[in-house]
Amino acid sequence: MKKYIVAFNFKNNIVEDDYFNQLVNTEITTIICPTFLQIDVAKQNLKTNYFLGAQNVQLNSKKAFTGEISASNLSKYNVQYCIVGHSERRNYLNESAKQIASKITELLNCNITPILCVGETEQLNDEDSINFINKQVLDIKLNLPCDCFDKICIAYEPVFSIGSGKPCKNEHINKISSFIKNNYNFSNILYGGSVNENNCEKLLNVQHLDGFLVGGASLNFNSVNKILNLLSNSNNFSFK
Ligand code: PGA
Repeated sequence: MKKYIVAFNFKNNIVEDDYFNQLVNTEITTIICPTFLQIDVAKQNLKTNYFLGAQNVQLNSKKAFTGEISASNLSKYNVQYCIVGHSERRNYLNESAKQIASKITELLNCNITPILCVGETEQLNDEDSINFINKQVLDIKLNLPCDCFDKICIAYEPVFSIGSGKPCKNEHINKISSFIKNNYNFSNILYGGSVNENNCEKLLNVQHLDGFLVGGASLNFNSVNKILNLLSNSNNFSFK
C-alpha cells in the first residue's frame, strides 16, 4: 500500500486565480508548483491539505542576488517542496550538479523538500539509461555536504518524454526506478514525462513509483482532479 505523491509543475504558465479553489479535496500528497507570481494567490486559496512547491531557489542565500528568491523567503510563504535539476534548467541554463547540490543544501537548511529531477536526454537501452541516471545521481551526491538522500524526493523524467504526449514504457520506468530504489535511499521516487489523466492509471502499475511529476496536464484543473481521484481510487493507495 502506498501514500502517493503528485507534484504539479506549472512551469512559466499563469492560471486563472480561481483555479486553486476548484481543486478537489484529496488524501493524496499533492504539491502545487506555480510560478513565483502565483505563490501568494495559491497560498491563500489552496485547500488545507495541499502543499505549495516552488520551481527554483536561490543558489547561495548569503549573497545579495537580484532576481532570485532564497529558501528562507520561500519558507515564509509556506513553500514546503521545490523542484531542482529540471532538464529545462540543466539544458537552457547549464545548471551544473554543483549548483543543483548547492540549491538542495539551501532548501534542506530551511526544511523544504527538494524534488530532484534526473533523466536521460535521448532514448537509450536500459543499461545505458541506468548508467546515465547513476552518474547524474552520483554527481549530486559528490557535491552534497551531507548524506541526506532520505530527505530528497527524486523524479525520473526521461527528457524525450517531457511534453511529447508519450510517457515512457512501464518496463523501462520499472528498470530505472528499481535501480534507484535498490541503490539509493531517496524518500520517494516519482515519474514525470507526459503524465495525464488518461495514462496515469497504467503508470501506477510500475512497482517502485510513489507518484508523478506532472507538467502540461497541471494547467487544467479538471485534469488535475481526475488524476487525484484516479490515484485515490487505486487499489494500492493507503492513507498512511
Ligand atoms: P510534461 O512535463 O508533463 O508536460 O511532460 C513534465 C515536466 O517537465 O516536469
